[in-house]
Amino acid sequence: MLSRVARRAFSTSRINPYKVTVLGAGGGIGQPLSLLLKLNHKVTDLRLYDLKGAHGVAADLSHIPTNSVVKGFTPEEKDGLKQALDKTDVVLIPAGVPRKPGMTRDDLFSINASIVRDLAAAVAESAPEAAVLVISNPVNSTVPIVAEVLKSKGVYNPKKLFGVTTLDVIRASRFISQVENTDPTTEHVTVVGGHSGITIIPLLSQTKHKMLDKETRDALIHRIQFGGDEVVKAKNGAGSATLSMAQAGAKFANAVLAGLEGERDVIQPSFVDSPLYKSEGIDFFASKVLLGPQGVEKIFPVGEISSEEEELLAKCKETLKKNIEKGEKFVTQA
Ligand code: NAD
Ligand code: LMR
Repeated sequence: MLSRVARRAFSTSRINPYKVTVLGAGGGIGQPLSLLLKLNHKVTDLRLYDLKGAHGVAADLSHIPTNSVVKGFTPEEKDGLKQALDKTDVVLIPAGVPRKPGMTRDDLFSINASIVRDLAAAVAESAPEAAVLVISNPVNSTVPIVAEVLKSKGVYNPKKLFGVTTLDVIRASRFISQVENTDPTTEHVTVVGGHSGITIIPLLSQTKHKMLDKETRDALIHRIQFGGDEVVKAKNGAGSATLSMAQAGAKFANAVLAGLEGERDVIQPSFVDSPLYKSEGIDFFASKVLLGPQGVEKIFPVGEISSEEEELLAKCKETLKKNIEKGEKFVTQA
C-alpha cells in the first residue's frame, strides 16, 4: 500500500487533505489562528476544540468559501476532545491563561502545566502520530511536559514535537527593520534558545546588520527578548499577544504542513528535542530546523556567533535548563 506521502505525490488534485486541530480555539490566539488556518489551502479539515465557544467560532469560519470543513467541539459532547483529535495531522495548542502586567511566563506554570499535560494525554490517545505545536506558555516548560506525557504513554516521537517560537522571529524582523529603516519582509533573523526573556537570543551577527553600534544593538536585542512585555503592558490586564501570535502560529503550521507534504528546504527556527546541548543537560533548544515528511529532518547548530552572543547563550542555557527540568519533573515526579 502506498504511504500517505506517496499517495500525495501521485495525486493529480491540487488539494492536500490535511486535518488540523486547534486546542484552545475559542481564545484570543485560537480565534484568529483558526481564521488563518481556514484560509490555508493545505488545510481541508479544521477541528476546533475549547472549553467554551468552539462551536460559535466554527460556525462563523464555516461560511468562508475555502475548501475546508470546520467543526467545533467542547467537553460537553461525548468524546468531544477525542473527536477533535481523531486522525489529525497537526495539533496546535494555544490553550491556557495569558500573562497580566507584572507576571513572568513562568508564573503561568501553576495553571498551564496541568492544562497542557491533560491535553497531551488526549493527543497520545487519539492522535499519537500527529505533529504537536505548543504555543501555551511557559513554552520552555510546556514542551518538556508534552514530551514526558507522550513518553509515559509510549508514543513520543521527538521529530513531531515543536515549541512555537516564531513570534520571536517575526518580531526580530520587524524591530530590526524599524531600526535600520528597511523592508521588514526582507529581514531574516535567526532566533535561538527558548521563548522567554533572556532565553531568547536573536543572532544579529548573522544578519546583514553586523555594524550596528553597541548601544543600538543592545537595545534591539532587549526589545526582541522582551517584546511580549510591550503587548502585555499595552493590553493592561486584557492578555498578551494574540494577533501577531496567530500570524506566527499560522506561519509555523504552514511550514510544518509544507514539510509533511514533501516540499524541500523548509527551514524555520523552533524549540525542539535537540542534541545541541544535551551533554550539558539541556534537552530542548530552539534553533533552525529543516522540516520534512517525518517532521524534524535536521537540526542546525547555532553556527558562528559573536562573543557577545556567546555570553547571551551562556546565560540562556542556565535559565533554560531549569525551565526544562521543571516541566519534566512536573510529569515524572507527579
Ligand atoms: P486566552 O485566555 O484568550 O485563550 C485561551 C483559551 O484556552 C480559552 O478560550 C480557554 O477556554 C482555553 N482553554 C483553557 N483550558 C483549556 C482546556 N483544558 N482545553 C481546551 N481549551 C482550554 O489566552 P490567549 O491569549 O489565547 O493565550 C493562550 C496561551 O498562549 C497563553 O498561555 C499565552 O501565554 C500563550 N502565548 C504564547 C505565545 C508564544 O509565542 N508561544 C504567544 C502569545 C501567547
Ligand atoms: C509573547 O511573546 O508575546 C508571548 O509569549 C506572550 C507573553 O506572555 O509575552
